[in-house]
Amino acid sequence: MAAKAQEEIYIGLDIGSTKVACVVGLHEEGASAPSVIGVGVAPTSGMRRGVVVDVEETVSSITAAVDEAERISGVPIDRATVSIDGANIQSLNSKGVIAVGRADQEISAEDLRRAEEAATAVHLAPNREILQVFPRSYTVDGQTNIKDPVGMNGVRLEVETHIITGATPAMKNLHRSIYQAGIEIEGQVLVPLAAARAILTKRQKELGVVLIDIGGGTTGMAVYEEGDVLYSSVLPIGSGHITNDLAIGLRTNVDVAEKIKLKYGRAHAAKVASSEKIRIEELEGDEMVVSRRELAKIMGARLDEIMHMIRTELRHAGRDVMLPAGVVLTGGGAKLPGMEEYTREALRLPVVIGKPEGLSGMIDRISDPAFAAPVGLMLENMAYAGGGGDKANARIGQTVEKIKKTLRNLLP
Ligand SMILES: Nc1ncnc2c1ncn2[C@@H]1O[C@H](COP(=O)(O)OP(=O)(O)OP(=O)(O)O)[C@@H](O)[C@H]1O
Ligand SMILES: [Mg+2]
Repeated sequence: MAAKAQEEIYIGLDIGSTKVACVVGLHEEGASAPSVIGVGVAPTSGMRRGVVVDVEETVSSITAAVDEAERISGVPIDRATVSIDGANIQSLNSKGVIAVGRADQEISAEDLRRAEEAATAVHLAPNREILQVFPRSYTVDGQTNIKDPVGMNGVRLEVETHIITGATPAMKNLHRSIYQAGIEIEGQVLVPLAAARAILTKRQKELGVVLIDIGGGTTGMAVYEEGDVLYSSVLPIGSGHITNDLAIGLRTNVDVAEKIKLKYGRAHAAKVASSEKIRIEELEGDEMVVSRRELAKIMGARLDEIMHMIRTELRHAGRDVMLPAGVVLTGGGAKLPGMEEYTREALRLPVVIGKPEGLSGMIDRISDPAFAAPVGLMLENMAYAGGGGDKANARIGQTVEKIKKTLRNLLP
């Protein structure tokens, strides 16, 4: 394959609880969207609920996924925008206020930066750090809801921000794993926000929508309103817990339970499944007989718990009813047959399943709810490289500087 200019190549690296996925995008001049030219996936065993528990295992999974993506794309990979995930993540909304700096009272980009900095002066528990800051809207001398105040005149500038924080030890292990796999971090994005980048339309974000990414070990949520992120969180529970419950309930091992879930699993919305018996052929050729009702009962209990937790989060966000664009489900857990209907009844909101669309190239591979986050990270990498003084890019730039500092500290 012919060599491609490095600056046209964008890379997303999603380090999930069950898989590492690396997506390589190529953006050619004039094209409306990037083309996916490489995908690499490797199973992980070094992660638990979105957090690195074994650095060595995680490094080898990252390496395997990156190697595959390199082989397929023909592009050497040594940098990426990476995922952040796990129950250690917390988010909060914070306000910052400053006096406009210039004598003529014209608001400058520097004022926005200072206001943002003021908003980040929040009290954090020891061992926690700020990972991402999103300015949501500005108020200039009492006039609220301004999206871009640069060039306006005013004395007092306020900014409302959404801030994502993580536990420093968890972040250190993640950064260490990525670094040891030979990847430089060009940006880090919370999984549901990355998935949102790939899936949500501008209109959905304007109207009010929640993206819910049900992974193997975590469920990430991001609520958008008026175009910006209002609330985000990561729940320490995912589709893998359904598998574990099946293993216990059906007295079998996790691998068999996973196969049973993928083959026979269904989300039953408030319907009692039939007592019909199904013959389940296990790996070793042994058979077991399980009633559909029993299967539905085991899976339903865990699904109900996940939905209960999601409802509680939506209530915290104050958006358990007011979400005109409803719910968009992504992540591998969204692929369980019946999930759309089940979620609709559980949350009493309109629900659709989201998968990456509108790209070209290896679309068969990425047209899958489980690829929302990896594709979104590739798109974030593109936005990061896009430059041009975009405020989002400037922010990622700041975070990257911090990561680089952390990495320097990790160096022997
Ligand atoms: N067709 C399917 N039906 C039901 N569940 C499925 C299906 N396909 C995948 N899953 C489940 O999706 C989960 C993996 O999803 P995903 O790849 O989004 O997770 P991850 O990114 O590795 O983990 P996390 O985001 O929690 O860190 C597994 O538990 C798997 O069993
Ligand atoms: Mg995931």
